[in-house]
Amino acid sequence: MKFNPENASALDIVRIFYRVLIPRPIAWVSTKSKNGIDNLAPFSFYGGVCANPPIVSLGIGRRKDNQKDTAKNLIETGECVIHLATESRSETIVKSSLEIDADTSEFDVCELERKEADIVNAKIVAEMPVAMECKMYKHLEVGKGPVDFILVEIIKFHIDDTYLDSRGYPDAEKLNPLSRLGGREYSSIGNIWTINRPE
Ligand SMILES: Cc1cc2nc3c(=O)[nH]c(=O)nc-3n(C[C@H](O)[C@H](O)[C@H](O)COP(=O)(O)O)c2cc1C
Repeated sequence: MKFNPENASALDIVRIFYRVLIPRPIAWVSTKSKNGIDNLAPFSFYGGVCANPPIVSLGIGRRKDNQKDTAKNLIETGECVIHLATESRSETIVKSSLEIDADTSEFDVCELERKEADIVNAKIVAEMPVAMECKMYKHLEVGKGPVDFILVEIIKFHIDDTYLDSRGYPDAEKLNPLSRLGGREYSSIGNIWTINRPE
């Protein structure tokens, strides 16, 4: 098939685009509102941008012209914690995507234990193997939505030692990350192999 998105509906674009942009890593993003409510939601329009300093991007859509709580909080406070989504927490991660009013915390709804971060004013989900404290780097409005495209700089990594390999590096198999496919489909890591790049 061939598909031209230019004159297609947003829904038709999503049906194709989300099924070929796969697998997508999932950022489980914790922020705090100006009223002190701890917010948590997953985002799979999430990707690496540069390594030094480490910067990642988040593409956060609007809800009936309103910014989602994560985008609003991040833009207002400039801070968040991103957790690597894992297969073992997949049900809770998806549950935390529910649309609730900004004065209710997904930490309470999902009955999650939270910990203080070292630097930023947003909570860490207890017992997650990877949590990254972040500061907002840049905010842009992108596309027809528009989408809040937010670059965040990772200023502190917290990695549970039990998820490290013998060299002390994060171990993909132990981390067992969750990834998003199209529609409501998810996947786990599958086979891992090595390919050497040409000299
Ligand atoms: C696995 C998963 C990935 C998601 N990825 C995105 C995304 O990249 N961008 C987005 O706008 N919404 C995404 N969503 C939907 C948000 O999580 C959802 O709108 C959530 O209610 C936003 O919460 P907030 O208003 O507290 O920020 C995703 C949902 C799930 C379950």
